[in-house]
Amino acid sequence: MNTNSASEQPSDIQVQQLFNQIAPMYDRLNDWLSLGQHRVWKKMAIAWTNPKVGDTFLDLCCGSGDVAMMLAKKIAGKNKTGKVFGVDFSESQLAIARKRTEALPYLQPYLTWQQGNALNLEFEDQTFDGATISYGLRNVIDIPQCLSELHRVLKIEGMVSILDFHRPQNLQTQQFQDFYLNNLVVPIAKLWNLEQEYAYLLPSIQRFPHGSTQVNLAIAAGFSEATHYPIMSGLMGILVLRK
Ligand SMILES: C[S@@+](CC[C@H](N)C(=O)[O-])C[C@H]1O[C@@H](n2cnc3c(N)ncnc32)[C@H](O)[C@@H]1O
Repeated sequence: MNTNSASEQPSDIQVQQLFNQIAPMYDRLNDWLSLGQHRVWKKMAIAWTNPKVGDTFLDLCCGSGDVAMMLAKKIAGKNKTGKVFGVDFSESQLAIARKRTEALPYLQPYLTWQQGNALNLEFEDQTFDGATISYGLRNVIDIPQCLSELHRVLKIEGMVSILDFHRPQNLQTQQFQDFYLNNLVVPIAKLWNLEQEYAYLLPSIQRFPHGSTQVNLAIAAGFSEATHYPIMSGLMGILVLRK
């Protein structure tokens, strides 16, 4: 990524380019670097939104589609009721999501992949029964605007679950996070010439608001309830919101 330094906040276009660039390796690296655990955390995040058969859900910043596909299995009803919209601004990530869905024809009627910007959603007010963001909020350049858009498109009482990395407060856990990212993630990404792209992870986590600040931002965006649940000793967190 061509920001002046890794710690500088990138622009929307730079974030989009980064996720287009890493798309071919993104799923494989997620599996290796989390030893497959990211699927467990994603399932935990989905459970907080309580998806029901026939619901209409939004998976924002859907990337290659993991969470949207898990959601589709939950909302898929008879007579093709239930719908999940996977929205992302990276066309390369969406292309992978579409390809993955081809292998799951029974899920196709319930899934719509749509290119769009999380800061300006092309949906009517109160469209969705629930919504998820997995590892996306940290990457949007305007978090309050993203939360405000989520709030707008959600039905009253709708639930949102936002899974992401988190900067732990404990110094030793912070040191572990630094070590893991600098000495494991970046060197592995380097094998595919994606060193610079993955060096972006640590500063993005350092910039990302702490759980209590995330709660305050969500309440300011209009949510009636907001709770941040640290997981993995605070290395990650799930922000759960109700409209
Ligand atoms: C780390 S990936 C997460 C993908 C997927 N949700 C997952 O958990 O595997 C972050 C995604 O957010 C998307 N993204 C970042 N900012 C966005 C924005 N403003 N609008 C739409 N998508 C955005 C990126 O294109 C990327 O696919």
